[in-house]
Amino acid sequence: MGLTLGNKVVLIGTGSVGSSYAFALMNQGLCDHLVLVDLDAEKAEGDALDLEHGIVYAPSNLQVKQGTYSDCHDAAIVVICAGAAQKPGETRLDLVNKNVAIFEKIVGEIMKSGFDGIIIVAANPVDILAYATLKFSGLHKSRVISSGTILDSARLRTVLGNEFNTSPTSVHAYIIGEHGDSQLPYWSAATLYGQQIGPMLTPQRRDEIAVEVRDVAYKIIESKGATFYGIAMGLARITKAILKNEHVVLPVGAMQSGENGHSDVFTGVPCLINRQGIEKVFALELDDDERQKFDASVNTLQSIQQSIWS
Ligand code: LAC
Repeated sequence: MGLTLGNKVVLIGTGSVGSSYAFALMNQGLCDHLVLVDLDAEKAEGDALDLEHGIVYAPSNLQVKQGTYSDCHDAAIVVICAGAAQKPGETRLDLVNKNVAIFEKIVGEIMKSGFDGIIIVAANPVDILAYATLKFSGLHKSRVISSGTILDSARLRTVLGNEFNTSPTSVHAYIIGEHGDSQLPYWSAATLYGQQIGPMLTPQRRDEIAVEVRDVAYKIIESKGATFYGIAMGLARITKAILKNEHVVLPVGAMQSGENGHSDVFTGVPCLINRQGIEKVFALELDDDERQKFDASVNTLQSIQQSIWS
């Protein structure tokens, strides 16, 4: 079947991440139909009503409602934010078995509706759950996108922007690998005004920044119980790239098919995103240290996958 066009979005899970994402969609005027689906239908209904009252001040009109999985049938994008959330001290990988079981049900319901669009996965461990989504949905790999390292890369750009007293929008840098503890900065490709950033920093400072970016989520979770604004903005960025057919390069979690030495696993790498979903997974030029860390990160993900689907 052909890809569903139009710009209707269905959000599964209206918790902190999902409702923040819905708020970002409205504020950016990214879609004209938004359906909120949650086990707590009353909460979703309340979110829909609350959002509706903001539309008069939004950049464009939005039809928003609480709905059910049947509303996925003509959606261009379904974003899955549902799932158990990380608790203080818990790693993203600790959530895996709980959320794989939840995803089998969710993805089954989405596909039962006749959905034929793109699924963005935003529940942790996001790379494993994107892999589960691909398996459970039967969609082409280009149509299942993990939020991957889109937030981690934003964090790296923010830290580097502060380091060089520059807007993070002028820092071009990626975190690659697992959205989790084994992630790594792709220093070889990090630039500021066209100059490589790596040599501008000492090895010690590079390591300090890598740890700060990797661990900041734990700090936020300790202080406020969860993270949601940063990831919501990352999800909105991916949504915009799809709905506006931008052909833009974003660091998302994509199914690897050998481009970077690994296959049959989702991990965060720069990809070309357009109306078809993931148009291209780029092959990275990693130095020896990056290669070793990237392979270790992907192997971490593959060993989790093997423990679930062996
Ligand atoms: C974080 C969550 C989204 O990194 O995994 O904040």
